[in-house]
Amino acid sequence: MNYNKKSIEDIEVSGKRVLCRCDFNVPTKDGKITSDKRIVAAMPTIEYLVGHGAKVILCSHMGKPKNGYEEKYSLKVVAERLSELLGKPVALAADVGGEDSKAKVAAMQPGDVVLLENTRFAKGETKNDPELSKALAELADVFVNDAFGSAHRAHASTAGVADYLPAVCGYLVQKEVSVMGKALADPERPFVAILGGAKVSDKLNVIQNLLEKVDTLIIGGGMAYTFLAAKGCGVGTSLLDGEKLDYCRQMMAKAEAKGVKLLLPVDTTVASAFPDPIDGEIAVQVVPSEAIPADKMGLDIGPKTMALYADAVKAAKTVVWNGPMGVFENPTLAKGTIAVAQALAESGAVTIVGGGDSAAACEQLGFADKITHISTGGGASLEFLEGRELPGIACLLNK
Ligand code: 3PG
Repeated sequence: MNYNKKSIEDIEVSGKRVLCRCDFNVPTKDGKITSDKRIVAAMPTIEYLVGHGAKVILCSHMGKPKNGYEEKYSLKVVAERLSELLGKPVALAADVGGEDSKAKVAAMQPGDVVLLENTRFAKGETKNDPELSKALAELADVFVNDAFGSAHRAHASTAGVADYLPAVCGYLVQKEVSVMGKALADPERPFVAILGGAKVSDKLNVIQNLLEKVDTLIIGGGMAYTFLAAKGCGVGTSLLDGEKLDYCRQMMAKAEAKGVKLLLPVDTTVASAFPDPIDGEIAVQVVPSEAIPADKMGLDIGPKTMALYADAVKAAKTVVWNGPMGVFENPTLAKGTIAVAQALAESGAVTIVGGGDSAAACEQLGFADKITHISTGGGASLEFLEGRELPGIACLLNK
């Protein structure tokens, strides 16, 4: 896949109508944005466009509305936050390429910013309907994709519209692709990848792809129990992807054949049941990973494993991390995830964190500014690590 794409600096934007797809899919609670990280991440591109006298037409999805307009998914809150960050008004068009969008764009002056309503309010968005792509394209002269978090979606506003306009990337997409692309293509070694999260089946292709590239692959989180079971360990009532045992055996054999060190938990924090509520009090004990009692469930890596994984990170020059080590929403079961986040923060390596949960963990724990790059993409960064072509990037002009 060619990631060497033209950017906003390679195309004339001054005086032009520029449609800029961002990922403003931000979390909200009671009608308020709870993290504006993704909006802030898009600011360099928006400021460049405004500063160069473009008429900036922003668009994004938020949430998964299925039947047109729904107030709770309106981008009104995003328009307000953008306006605060830019220090200028940001008008919200009531539709996605319809009459109100056309009228608002027609009234724009260079440097003005208009935000279209949630792209998923339009029926054709997720179906990548060419009619919607055309309607969006008619609003503008140039398309800029800066929505890295949505780059794995082939939707009308992320990819389809590029069929009808010259299409380039913004600074965020450029940064994400260059940092992660370099780590995968030409990493400083030793290169260590840490994978966690609940299910092996969510990470099949990531494991396969990373085994081709890393020196050490570290497995934690719920998916570790399937690997342990595949080695013949009893895993009690821990999460088990029973259909993936053979796959895990194949991956362990592949690691051995390639000389890749594959690290699994040596000890495990267990409890009698999954915490309910998830952040409620829970009685735990630490047991060797090969001897999880039949009535116990593994919910986090144990202290010896934390030390083992931290040592591997210390020795690394490049580290990629995706997925928590345990049920990190619960303070008692967050220790493994904290230990990994801390090891990354303290290592002198190039550190890249992808995926919603591990990124959130770094932020909540206050380690974010010590990480080289925290991806704004969840699914998108995972597909990138799988080595898959991302439609929102493939559709852009090559340099
Ligand atoms: C994300 O949050 O991962 C992106 O915004 C994509 O959202 P989606 O999974 O609803 O397509």
